[in-house]
Amino acid sequence: MIKALRGMKDILESDESAKFQYFVKTATAVAERYGFEYIETPKLEETALFKRSVGESSDIVGKEMYQFIDKGENDVCLRPEGTAGVVRAFVEKKLDRIDQTRRFFYHGSMFRYERPQKGRLREFHQFGCEVFGESNVLEDANLIIMLSTIFNTLGISHQIQINSLGCPKCIPAYREKLVAFLDSKKEHLCDDCLRRKETNPIRALDCKTITCAEQYVDAPFITDNLCDECAADFERLKTLLDHNNIAYTVNKKLVRGLDYYTKTAFEFVSDEIGAQSAIAGGGRYDRLVEFLEGRPTPAIGFAIGIERIFDLIKVPEGSRQGIYLGAMDEAAIDTVFAKAQALRRNHTVTVDYSARGLKGHLKQADKAEARICAVIGETERLAGTIWVKDLETKEEQTVALDAFQGMLA
Ligand code: HAM
Repeated sequence: MIKALRGMKDILESDESAKFQYFVKTATAVAERYGFEYIETPKLEETALFKRSVGESSDIVGKEMYQFIDKGENDVCLRPEGTAGVVRAFVEKKLDRIDQTRRFFYHGSMFRYERPQKGRLREFHQFGCEVFGESNVLEDANLIIMLSTIFNTLGISHQIQINSLGCPKCIPAYREKLVAFLDSKKEHLCDDCLRRKETNPIRALDCKTITCAEQYVDAPFITDNLCDECAADFERLKTLLDHNNIAYTVNKKLVRGLDYYTKTAFEFVSDEIGAQSAIAGGGRYDRLVEFLEGRPTPAIGFAIGIERIFDLIKVPEGSRQGIYLGAMDEAAIDTVFAKAQALRRNHTVTVDYSARGLKGHLKQADKAEARICAVIGETERLAGTIWVKDLETKEEQTVALDAFQGMLA
């Protein structure tokens, strides 16, 4: 039997697919209220896009890419995240040349060849938002509040961690300080951290190895080494969150796993889902548009890991909806089928194609969570009528087939 690949999941049981749809609907509604427009970008892109944006020193590019040479000898890659593709589209469509703030949202599959475990898949889904052309830190606060609103609307409790990762003005001096610190500890560090020391030293601070983490307790953190502008922006962000009653903690070790961040970085975590506790992450990436050959454009965004919050989503008990149509003898099936097509101009209709007794139809209608169960048997067929039951009010009646549609309006 052919099975789904390791780390890849079907979303089909009514429970899971209902949660998925409910999540997307809820997050979309919030994003639209905040002025975001939908964007869809390809799942397959040139490998160079991710190397240049997510960064060669990141685990994502270094270890986790689904990369291959296609039949046209192109080096391509399944997207490990959504931001790079959106930035590419933004630059390719020359939107960087128009002086206008643009806000995009998207959702879809991302692919990372990680070791699968609870909350960590090889194909997973993100809901993401990206804002271009806004450098004001009010936007940083706006996005954090919006993300919090999405989780609150879904009834998902969350903790917010924030940090500032600095800018090209403060990073070089900090980097020197950090490398000197890492050098002084090098006998105690794991191989990954020794490599990170050379490629992207700040990433070392995120190391999960206990011996390394112990060494980093007194490491210099970027948060304490910000230039005046970054420090002022970070203070303002905290004040804005305070004024808007958003609880957060500053996590100086929060460095994010992708190379493109500058200034504000944040993660939303849940203490209800086990080790993979990050349910969303994001931050500012003011240099990325330029890296991808666009005009310098400040940008910020986030992405939610949809599978990570599956267990936390409770779909509200939906009231019964739609119409279930059935035939009680073979001769009525064509009439029922034609009626369904007509009704579908205005209603959601489920049709049962097999003739069965009234009890059977009522059972099927109940399973389909239909509001109305309407059936045609021999008596109704000969009389030109249809038997109708409202499954919520339990009211039953027989009406002329021609009057049925009018009765529903
Ligand atoms: P990220 O932190 O790599 O950021 O991913 C965002 C979220 O995707 C994570 O917080 C987590 O919930 C989920 N996630 C990541 N990897 C997996 C996995 N293997 N299985 C299941 N869920 C996973 C980004 O991807 C950035 N593009 C976010 C962003 C947008 N920054 C700015 N704009």
